Amino acid sequence: MGAMTVHGNFINGAWVASVTGETFENRNPANPDDLIGTFAKSTAEDVGRAVASARGAYDAWRLTPAPRRAEILYRAGQILMERKEAYARDMTREMGKVLKETRGDIQEAIDTAFYAAGEGRRLFGQTVPAELPNKFAMSVRVPIGVCGMITPWNFPMAIPSWKILPALVCGNTVVIKPATDTPLSVVNFIVALHDAGLPPGVVNMVTGSGSHVGTPLIEHPDVKLISFTGSTEVGRQVAVACAERYKKCSLEMGGKNAMILLEDGDIDLAVDAATWGAFGTTGQRCTATSRVIVDRRVAAAFAERLAARVRTLKVGDGLDESIEMGPCISEAQRKTVESYVAIGTGEGARLVCGGKRASGKGFFFEPTIFEQVKPSMRLATEEIFGPVLSIIPVDGIDEAIKVANAVDYGLSSAIFTRDINRAFRAMRDVEAGIFYVNSSTIGAEVQLPFGGVKKTGNGHREAGTTVLDIFTEWKSVYVDFSGRLQKAQIDRVD
Ligand code: UN1
Repeated sequence: MGAMTVHGNFINGAWVASVTGETFENRNPANPDDLIGTFAKSTAEDVGRAVASARGAYDAWRLTPAPRRAEILYRAGQILMERKEAYARDMTREMGKVLKETRGDIQEAIDTAFYAAGEGRRLFGQTVPAELPNKFAMSVRVPIGVCGMITPWNFPMAIPSWKILPALVCGNTVVIKPATDTPLSVVNFIVALHDAGLPPGVVNMVTGSGSHVGTPLIEHPDVKLISFTGSTEVGRQVAVACAERYKKCSLEMGGKNAMILLEDGDIDLAVDAATWGAFGTTGQRCTATSRVIVDRRVAAAFAERLAARVRTLKVGDGLDESIEMGPCISEAQRKTVESYVAIGTGEGARLVCGGKRASGKGFFFEPTIFEQVKPSMRLATEEIFGPVLSIIPVDGIDEAIKVANAVDYGLSSAIFTRDINRAFRAMRDVEAGIFYVNSSTIGAEVQLPFGGVKKTGNGHREAGTTVLDIFTEWKSVYVDFSGRLQKAQIDRVD
């Protein structure tokens, strides 16, 4: 067991207790006896202080040249590189995913730091010809103001980094509410930013529940934008609350990601990809593979080889390097997973392996596979966010694409085939924001847009250069150097 620490909110560059002095506990999901620390149980008053701090810091930060802002992000990236191992261990302890994956989570924050920092010397706008003589036309990006961020527990540092770092390089200031299950990783991230020289007030953190911290953050009149990653139902509520207040809001929500395996696909490669896609992060990724849509001719061979592989997966405490799959984040999440096993069995799907709680003190669950799943079953359409994979047999690519699209979500997707023509057809016709050929549904890189269609998102994309469209507004600027009043659309000889 590691050390137990006491953490406050981060407001105006200082760590402070909540106004009420109340706290909540953060425990290790692989061993709930392991108390990681206590964190501030905050209220609207704490949110108000954090927003005032972010507002106070805004003008100086927005007027700091973007390349200077970016230098702080570069330094933060370097600091994260130095502390990668320690922060990965903290993350495994509070979140449960295995060390290999928490190292990847920190790496994603490092990648984002360097990528966002590069934008400090770009943040491109456009220059275009003006229709009148002696007139100049261009567009520039301008920051939005105080940005509120609400982040999930499954990527405790990567997802906050996707939001905070681009927001900062664009000149915004931030108040973040981390998930109550994983606040330590956000504390570590903020410590790295602070050590890199970020001025006080530019980033603030308030810990606590959705109703006591998230809602006041969304409702605060000085918060101009909300960036949310989490469930589709909560995302809908965030969108409604933002719409009522004319706030910009970007949402990343659920997924029910499909991997298509055609009869000419490499079955062994598909087995590796499905194992990693479905059971990596204990299936608790928005991008997790939760359906394999497989040509009936190879369905049995695939299911057999996959089950043989999955039965050998070592489940346990992710701090042990030999472990391949950690626990569910909480008992509540494990109960949800358990309920879907009952739902799937009740619907007539066939359980191939798993289906039960695994032994140990933590919230462990066996990696679970169902076959003969029908596309309309709840098992095949609802997001589970746990280690449960459905194998759905189909006849050919047309049906495969139809089934892939027969869900409310559209985040990630994949196809396994050696036929380039069919790969391109699926790429065009599968409704998803991310598509892989001969690779798993997980593993997005930070330099391309990340997000999805249908109930997965609301039209925004994090990562890539598209994230800049979330955290800036466009300003179109016309400079008339003719010395006289020229009228667009009017002054012309037809
Ligand atoms: C998520 O699932 O919430 O592509 C984020 C991936 C990771 C990010 C996942 N790079 O799976």
